[in-house]
Amino acid sequence: MRKLLVKGCEGLNGEVSVSGSKNSALPILAATILTEGQTTLSSIPNLLDVMTMLKVLRALSIRAEYYHPNQVKIWVGSRVKHVAPYQLVTRMRASFFVIGPILAKMGFAKVPLPGGCAIGSRPVDIHIKGLERLGAKVRMEHGFVVAEAEKLKGEAVHLDFPSVGATETIMMAATLAIGETTINNAAREPEIVDLANFLNKAGAQITGAGSEEIKIEGVKRLTGVNHRIIPDRIEAGTFMAAAAACGGAVTIKEVIPQQLEVAILKMKEAGVEVVTGEDFVTVKSQGRVKAIDLSTLPHPGFPTDLQPQFCSMLCRAEGVSVVKETVFESRFTHLNELKRMGADIKIEGRSAIIKGVERLSSAPVVVSDLRAGAGLVIAALSAVGETLIDDRDRQIERGYENILKKFGGLGADIKVVDEREDQGIPAPHLQGA
Ligand code: UD1
Repeated sequence: MRKLLVKGCEGLNGEVSVSGSKNSALPILAATILTEGQTTLSSIPNLLDVMTMLKVLRALSIRAEYYHPNQVKIWVGSRVKHVAPYQLVTRMRASFFVIGPILAKMGFAKVPLPGGCAIGSRPVDIHIKGLERLGAKVRMEHGFVVAEAEKLKGEAVHLDFPSVGATETIMMAATLAIGETTINNAAREPEIVDLANFLNKAGAQITGAGSEEIKIEGVKRLTGVNHRIIPDRIEAGTFMAAAAACGGAVTIKEVIPQQLEVAILKMKEAGVEVVTGEDFVTVKSQGRVKAIDLSTLPHPGFPTDLQPQFCSMLCRAEGVSVVKETVFESRFTHLNELKRMGADIKIEGRSAIIKGVERLSSAPVVVSDLRAGAGLVIAALSAVGETLIDDRDRQIERGYENILKKFGGLGADIKVVDEREDQGIPAPHLQGA
């Protein structure tokens, strides 16, 4: 169990560099299964989720090691094991993404169904339908998805929804299929483009990634390569929302500003000053923004992964904001925690009506999922007093590298409260841990 003690601040100031993208790193790690030889991935964020994916790869007989806090080397042979371990896949949904590569390489894959999660049921039906279109026979067996196909065959695949994970599963599986695959209504997130760039370097023939139609001409084999993961746009957006909510001037470095286009537009609409350069974004704010409406959508719409952080920013906005969540069915659990901090929020179905209040005040709150956790940190920083955030499942560490150190560098005071200390037994603070 882990708790964070966050002191309300009068502003955040300074510079912060973002890490490599978690949502790029995870599918690219899964995609190394398709290769043969040595791959070096740099700008890999050092995160719990990445470690889980490395454990999955090792369980498949792949050698995967950190050579530097942000560099991983991976050695893959011509064969991998075809069963992914239950304990790991149920811990992290993204580890289900190994199904496509194992199936394409070995002709047989057995991967546990990912468990439920706090932001919705998150089924994998679109992944499975896509693999079936490529000729796989798929069945459920004691909680595992079992997929078989001696050789996958290229086909036209239409996605009912532009699912990020399903687009990645089908794209990876199709690289070693016979003939051409077309994915229609594909997800267009920058992480899809990064995965396609990685695969193309390894010898795949993919065109159209980043558009709604992706074409993949199957090839016989993929080789190991060197690849640098793109910056984490969600981490960048989190620091933007924090700076806007607390006030101050923060420059977020090593980002690709084009990937933050909607977030920047929404910030400007909220009256926040945003300056962009080639690889940085500077956010200047007085602390109270103007109310705005926003609706989450697949890329290039407003990212659902920034919804909780923007909700926290809007709690103190002047006026009434309406935030609509259209991607996940139950991604509003953080709002009840924000209400405990004095936020005025009404939830109507998939919409949150947020009436801005002058100040939030500290209260003990609980983290339900990764981005909700980031949202609560922002709310706590912009509140009066010291907020105790109970991150019992270490959700925040799943997606934010060195978050305490990074916020500390901007003037925030966030401490890890040792469990013993929480029970009244003194223990040293681990500031910046
Ligand atoms: C990825 C991201 C996650 C982000 C999400 C949406 C990673 C590791 N995670 O998750 O951070 O919030 O995209 O941008 O990249 N769905 C189905 N059936 C399926 C697949 C998805 O109904 O087979 C539904 C989901 O329940 C959800 C919606 O589609 O409501 C979006 O899911 P999807 O785009 O697949 O998200 P993930 O790939 O899981």
